[in-house]
Amino acid sequence: MGRKTVLVSGGAGFIGSHVTVELIEAGYDVVVADNMSNCDLTCFNGVKEITGKKDIPFVEMDFCDLPAVEKLFADFDIAAAIHFAGFKAVGESVGDPMKYYHNNLVSFMNILTVARRTGKCNMLFSSSATVYGEPDQLPVIEETPRKDAESPYGNTKRICEDILHDCVKAYPEVKGIALRYFNPIGAHPSALIGELPRGVPNNLVPYITQTAIGKRECLSIFGNDYPTPDGTCLRDFIDIVDLAKAHVCAVERMLKGKMKKDYEIYNIGTGHPLSVMDLVTAFEKANGVKLNWKYAPRRVGDVVAIWADADLANQELGWKAERPIEETLRSAWAWEKRLAGK
Ligand code: UD1
Repeated sequence: MGRKTVLVSGGAGFIGSHVTVELIEAGYDVVVADNMSNCDLTCFNGVKEITGKKDIPFVEMDFCDLPAVEKLFADFDIAAAIHFAGFKAVGESVGDPMKYYHNNLVSFMNILTVARRTGKCNMLFSSSATVYGEPDQLPVIEETPRKDAESPYGNTKRICEDILHDCVKAYPEVKGIALRYFNPIGAHPSALIGELPRGVPNNLVPYITQTAIGKRECLSIFGNDYPTPDGTCLRDFIDIVDLAKAHVCAVERMLKGKMKKDYEIYNIGTGHPLSVMDLVTAFEKANGVKLNWKYAPRRVGDVVAIWADADLANQELGWKAERPIEETLRSAWAWEKRLAGK
């Protein structure tokens, strides 16, 4: 059997670049497509260096542009597609919902529409634990009821899951897997690819590393009066390389005909909660640095606590989070230092 080609939309970004590396290392051909709206070529070049593959096809295009998507599928024989191309800033989505609904929904519908026409639509959608909202029971399993989204961004994740599910039910050529990510953090051990936030980071770990390097003055820990052991929020921080490997398992499951249902959902997390304070302390300890931090008021829209039950991914995908948190936090710091030229 020849090598199969996997399309990675949004493949030049943080998650997409790590997934591209793991797919190539697992023996797949990858087509990376990105409109570069939220990244530059740093990570794509890093992917080429890590894999030693200089000829990875790269298409600069927007998935909202239907003719461009049609051309892409005409130019490559795509066996499976992983869709990352989407906006992801929660706060921005509240201020400009149409930007999010238009980009995140149209791009996904276009890729699905065109992939269907090929007669083999194997679609992996990057969803988020945000679809669970503030869960009534912890840890969350895949059947835990979804809640109304807290933001237009979160709503686009929920709607795309529904679009995929409805398409699977209606069209025999469509198979779908939604991976619900918890909090992806860290960087590749080579420090050649990682997270590249534009402007002030919204997410915790980039804010921590930028504070440690001196780009930001002080980390604000949002809320220390939550009903949790230390008063700060609880999250399931999942290593980016571990998370990337889950995609390889999911693609293999699809392409090797191992799916039990034509639409499957998996939680991609460690299964262990860490508090924001735990993470800050672990970062300081793992890297031998002192972080300037202070408590600040709660951030609007934050859930108190969420972590995954990842048993289904363990059993069905044969996937498990493996990298110890110290290593993940060392990789995040190594990446930040590399960006700073240190
Ligand atoms: C958010 C999104 C999630 C998305 C993820 C991407 C929601 C509700 N959350 O998750 O959908 O997939 O980003 O990574 O839609 N914190 C601080 N100080 C900071 C930054 C964060 O204390 O400067 C705290 C937050 O209050 C939170 C925790 O750190 O308790 C994690 O925050 P963050 O990294 O932004 O991720 P989430 O909000 O969990």
